[in-house]
Amino acid sequence: MITLSHLTMRLAGGGHQITILDDVTFEIPDKQRVAIVGHSGSGKSTLLGLIAGLDRPTSGSIMLDGTDISRMRESDLARYRRDHIGYIFQSFHLIPTLTALENVLVPLELAGTSGAQTRATDLLKSVGLGDRLHHYPVQLSGGEQQRVAVARSFACRPPILLADEPTGNLDSVTGQQIMNLLLSLHRECGATLILVTHDRTMAASMERVITLRDGRVESDTRIGSDHLPAESSR
Ligand SMILES: Nc1ncnc2c1ncn2[C@@H]1O[C@H](COP(=O)(O)OP(=O)(O)O)[C@@H](O)[C@H]1O
Ligand SMILES: [Mg+2]
Repeated sequence: MITLSHLTMRLAGGGHQITILDDVTFEIPDKQRVAIVGHSGSGKSTLLGLIAGLDRPTSGSIMLDGTDISRMRESDLARYRRDHIGYIFQSFHLIPTLTALENVLVPLELAGTSGAQTRATDLLKSVGLGDRLHHYPVQLSGGEQQRVAVARSFACRPPILLADEPTGNLDSVTGQQIMNLLLSLHRECGATLILVTHDRTMAASMERVITLRDGRVESDTRIGSDHLPAESSR
């Protein structure tokens, strides 16, 4: 369970403070699929970064199974990220000097996982890149790069998967393929999935849609869990 209580994020800018998140309070049960939507600048990425432990709130708390990560020491926070969080970015964020396989190996080796090579290879095969293992990011299309990033995010079987507009830089067909991949890997791993998206269709494949507006929760809607695409869609 992720519990956000009265989360506020303010930054000093141009001599005055700007409020990026304002009194955000909600809970996300384990394994829920949640979409975060809202206009550009509404605070979605900031919220994701706080849940990822990449940043600390100005006030409020972020409890994960009873532990407040906003008050953790930096070294504990690094371990929290390593053990709990998978993150997918809009712009892929692969390491350009590493091959597809090496990119997926990074988190596995950091975690000291045994059988890392096999796990990384299997994951890349499962995202349809079995024949691209030794390609560098620059040799891959945008869709292929995001497949590598998806494989990497699942590598350590994180209980929380955060995706910040993962299809935002892709055409709609490729975007839908990435989304199907994400959903099918998510089904196998059973992580909590928090997806920031502008795409209403993608939001509709989640169980719940939280809308942010000017840093506040404007609405929080449960939707049916029967919107998943077919099992064979990846
Ligand atoms: N490091 C920063 N310094 C100043 N302003 C920031 C910073 N990060 C985000 N902002 C501002 O906070 C608001 C929310 O940003 P963000 O969380 O990226 O929104 P979204 O992801 O919904 O587009 C925006 O107005 C943005 O300009
Ligand atoms: Mg954003």
